[in-house]
Amino acid sequence: MADDFRWTSDSSRPSLTSEFILSTEQAPRLSEVISPYSVPLPTIDMAGEDEAAMAEQIAAASTEFGLFRVINHRIPEEAWVSAATAVRDFFLLPPEVKRRLAGGRTMDKLKVYRYFLKDWEDERDISMWSEVASQIWHPTDDFAGALPEIPSGYREHLGAFGKDLGLLMTRLMSLLSIGLGLEESCIKRKLGHQPFLRCHGNYFPPCPNPELTLGLPIHCDSVALSLIRTLDDVPGLQILKDKQWVAVDQLANSFIVNIGDQLEVLSNGRYKSVVHRVVTNETRERVSLAFFWGPGLNESVGPIASLIDEQHHPVYRSFLFKDFLIEHDKQAGKRKRVKEIFQLQPTAP
Ligand code: OGA
Ligand code: NI
Repeated sequence: MADDFRWTSDSSRPSLTSEFILSTEQAPRLSEVISPYSVPLPTIDMAGEDEAAMAEQIAAASTEFGLFRVINHRIPEEAWVSAATAVRDFFLLPPEVKRRLAGGRTMDKLKVYRYFLKDWEDERDISMWSEVASQIWHPTDDFAGALPEIPSGYREHLGAFGKDLGLLMTRLMSLLSIGLGLEESCIKRKLGHQPFLRCHGNYFPPCPNPELTLGLPIHCDSVALSLIRTLDDVPGLQILKDKQWVAVDQLANSFIVNIGDQLEVLSNGRYKSVVHRVVTNETRERVSLAFFWGPGLNESVGPIASLIDEQHHPVYRSFLFKDFLIEHDKQAGKRKRVKEIFQLQPTAP
């Protein structure tokens, strides 16, 4: 544990010791990654008047990619920069201060940790090249009082930005509902009155050799919807599309929207939970914020009834979100696709 917070305020950069080095099979093979310009990623202009057209574009992007970018989203640039800078300053706090602020359990107000991957061969845990500050968030209530007081401005900036993002995510859920031919409040309602809400600050120091490790492991987000943005647009996020890794370029003043496992289940597989990872950067530090919105722990999740008919059989069985998370924890480090456990097998003819 003592080692976990040693990084960022050290003037000496962390060294790429064996605890971070992936096996050859798990290494990112950066030369094989497709550039963002050869596979253009969907961009949704949210200034449009025509909600139905916007919903259609969002549905098409969620079906084909499970990811899109939004521009003209109405969130003031200043609100984003202040929040992201406060998160970067948090990671730059002296290790002993971060250690004091860090908790240990999943639903703690704030906990700082690193992801790891299991090496299949020798069952070794390999640390990812990042630190994660997982914290509470609420789209409308005042949650910021529970956040750290230091660095200065952390509570205020994250609190204000969290509310802006709540509005944007609510609007996106309406458009995602309309895109499935559902009533606009349908998806948000399905996620319940006490949804699972977390905000992650991710910190990736410059890495001496990005070919040897990863910033975040290959994963799908286990929630319904995630919004992500990176300070100064430092690249690193990649998605798996048609079995190839594609680099996601962050457009200026845009947010990246990821479809998570629960939206794939609710939409009965129409929307795709995007498989993604983060690679490291040799020269630049990277700070990203990810806001997650999932079902309440006791909500039952399954394909929405009106999407099921003679032609569309259910692809998933229903489950409680807390049981999904238990499966998720069981897979820790192995990174099997958790949603596969809830997939219904095609019945024999
Ligand atoms: C995540 C995630 C992407 C990024 O936090 O789940 O995928 O760009 N983050 O940091
Ligand atoms: Ni993710």
